[in-house]
Amino acid sequence: MKNKLLISATIVLALALSSGAALAFHDGGVAYCAGCHTMHNSQGGNPVDINHPTGNAYLLNNGNASDTCLKCHAAYGQFAGGFGWGAGGDFYWLTKTFSWTTPRAGSRQGYTHGHNVISPAYGIVRDPVLAAAPGGDFNSLYLTCTSCHDPHGNQNYRLLYGDESAGPIYGGARYDFDSPAPIALGNSRRTLGNSPTGVPETDISHTVYKSGMSEWCANCHTDLHAGNTTDFVHPTGENMSSLVVATYNAYISTDQTTGGDPATSYRGLVPFEAVNVDLAAIDPLNYTQGPVAGDQVMCLTCHRSHASPFADAGRWDFTSTHLISAHPLATDTGASADDVANKDYGYTLVTNQRSLCNKCHVKDFGDAHYEAH
Ligand code: HEC
Ligand code: HEC
Ligand code: HEC
Ligand code: HEC
Ligand code: HEC
Ligand code: HEC
Repeated sequence: MKNKLLISATIVLALALSSGAALAFHDGGVAYCAGCHTMHNSQGGNPVDINHPTGNAYLLNNGNASDTCLKCHAAYGQFAGGFGWGAGGDFYWLTKTFSWTTPRAGSRQGYTHGHNVISPAYGIVRDPVLAAAPGGDFNSLYLTCTSCHDPHGNQNYRLLYGDESAGPIYGGARYDFDSPAPIALGNSRRTLGNSPTGVPETDISHTVYKSGMSEWCANCHTDLHAGNTTDFVHPTGENMSSLVVATYNAYISTDQTTGGDPATSYRGLVPFEAVNVDLAAIDPLNYTQGPVAGDQVMCLTCHRSHASPFADAGRWDFTSTHLISAHPLATDTGASADDVANKDYGYTLVTNQRSLCNKCHVKDFGDAHYEAH
């Protein structure tokens, strides 16, 4: 018996090391209730949530919904000091405000870095500027992890809410989603860039997106999606023209705007929806194929779904001519050396690299080199 236990413990450990998802919790559905709830806030005569002796709404075992998720997920990379280099991104950036004096004085508030999932235990407060989702009416007062992910699980990509259930809890009621969850395939929830068990996003290993992401975001940001209005919206959920497809595949960097190989042109920082991909036949740990006709530009081509070091949860800094001068910089107040090192995940950007919009539009063809100011 003892041996058997030892063997199974070894197997569990081996599995845990080989695949981040081996120690399942949600398992594509509802996990054991005590993972998130406590019935009496008492176990062995002690409070389960010592910070809230009188208990929590919904009998949660750690503050509110976001606090409850982050109890486990902070260390996986969803709130990890900027070391969470995942597709979704690290909510830590919401707590970081950067300011600088040169070349012109400026600053960027932490809350502009993405979705302010209210979490008292981790210092994330309601977005003080955006009262609701731009382009929609989802009130930012109710935004938590469980506004997007179903805490009781489902078989959708990343347990996201879709149109099949009643939608996320919203001030005691439910908020109705019109569009289904996106179709995609991702890697482990362990996204740490500084850990041997982490599977950070790279040009090779990343979520492979198939369809429905823009429509899904539009559940809350209705008017920002091209399908809903015609003015002032970058195309999303629309086929990439053959010109854009060819540009994406050829573009390597500002230094080399042509010469890319379609078989390896995929750039983790500028993803698209591979509409005809067979997700059962590919491996998101090794996927480098560039776009083909019919593939689509979508919200996550430019944004992260959680947060990023940049404004508007940008995958890169939309306000820098050369990405090398994107804040946080080492000279910024509020930026640690780690923040500066983490802002580009592990990606290598050439010194002259201009905005990554150029991956599809190559407006940086023949441009002057970067010069420090
Ligand atoms: C991964 C965390 C998690 C697990 C596991 C979990 N819950 Fe919950 N549950 C929550 C959160 C968070 C809320 C608060 C409402 C919200 O944010 O969606 C909640 C709310 C509820 C509610 C009230 C609202 C509703 O959706 O009906 C009930 C009832 C409930 N849970 C029952 C259960 C039961 C029974 C189990 C085990 C079979 C369970 N939960 C497992 C996180 C969880
Ligand atoms: C007790 C620890 C624990 C808690 C609490 C917890 N998780 Fe998880 N979560 C895990 C583990 C372990 C995995 C990986 C295995 C799995 O999917 O079951 C995971 C995986 C996930 C994934 C990826 C699933 C996939 O399909 O790849 C999402 C999304 C997620 N959790 C969201 C949440 C949210 C939202 C909450 C809060 C409502 C939460 N988790 C609470 C442990 C936890
Ligand atoms: C459940 C509703 C909901 C969904 C789904 C949703 N958002 Fe949001 N989003 C909000 C709310 C509320 C705000 C305003 C509060 C905030 O910024 O924290 C917001 C703000 C934003 C911002 C501005 C952030 C800032 O600080 O300036 C961006 C960018 C964004 N969302 C992009 C997306 C993308 C991309 C998706 C799809 C992956 C998405 N959203 C899905 C509710 C949602
Ligand atoms: C605005 C919607 C939204 C909110 C709020 C949100 N998520 Fe996510 N989350 C997503 C989407 C969409 C993805 C898929 C990202 C991708 O693959 O590009 C995702 C991915 C994930 C993953 C997979 C690993 C990764 O980083 O990509 C985990 C784990 C996760 N979320 C947990 C959480 C936790 C914990 C919270 C709250 C602290 C949270 N999410 C809040 C939309 C959201
Ligand atoms: C081609 C890149 C690109 C795509 C695709 C894109 N965005 Fe944006 N988004 C931006 C930029 C750049 C900004 C900064 C403000 C601006 O330029 O209007 C922004 C700003 C935002 C904001 C903040 C608005 C505010 O008032 O603070 C939200 C919310 C947002 N985008 C959501 C979305 C959603 C949802 C989608 C998909 C339907 C999407 N974006 C697709 C580049 C993009
Ligand atoms: C993944 C590829 C991709 C990226 C990255 C991208 N775009 Fe586009 N863009 C497209 C596609 C596709 C169209 C639709 C026209 C076409 O297919 O030629 C388009 C159209 C446009 C248009 C013309 C819109 C109109 O109504 O005529 C502008 C302007 C534009 N993009 C600006 C940007 C900016 C600025 C960024 C970066 C913030 C950006 N794009 C990033 C793919 C992309």
